[in-house]
Amino acid sequence: MFDRQEALKLLDWANELNPGPWRAHSLGVARAAGLIAGAIGIDEERAYITGLMHDIGRYEGVRGMHHVIAGHDLMMDKGQPECARICITHSFPDKRMEGYLGAIDVTDDEYARIKRSLAGYVFDDYDRIVQLCDAISWNEGVCLMEKRLVNVVLRHGTAPGIREKWQAYFDIKEDLERRMGRSLYSLFPECWENTLG
Ligand SMILES: [Fe+2]
Repeated sequence: MFDRQEALKLLDWANELNPGPWRAHSLGVARAAGLIAGAIGIDEERAYITGLMHDIGRYEGVRGMHHVIAGHDLMMDKGQPECARICITHSFPDKRMEGYLGAIDVTDDEYARIKRSLAGYVFDDYDRIVQLCDAISWNEGVCLMEKRLVNVVLRHGTAPGIREKWQAYFDIKEDLERRMGRSLYSLFPECWENTLG
């Protein structure tokens, strides 16, 4: 698997092709994922790297759902299957594609491919941690999940499966908090300023 330097180099390459706030978001997700992984005693580095690469498909430009398949294929080309699956799983915490917020800019074949991949994955802790971190990240830090979820809906509009998708995020949070034995937000002191500021 990539080390941090290789992954950061790739992120910078991608951000040069499509500069935007998604680079800071990726750094924030990576940091948060590493901290949560450490708190439940799993591989922090794997969580950090998969978090850093989750949106790497944005290298191809401003796209909607297509970024998940672009990221997956890029990571497979680079021999990074752990990152490739996260490029797909991070957008579908309840495995349903109906809750996707943003443009459905994939071909019918690509849509079917994503659906087949999701059906085949058994979500593990790394999938779930990156899904959650995507839903709590605010620039390079963390904010209250409710704020981030509402912000995404305000930017992209809503979708028929949104209730189930939001519920999945809260279920992941509850499970991780039980296993950490502490509140998720206690790991992230910047949360209050990012939420209320
Ligand atoms: Fe994404």
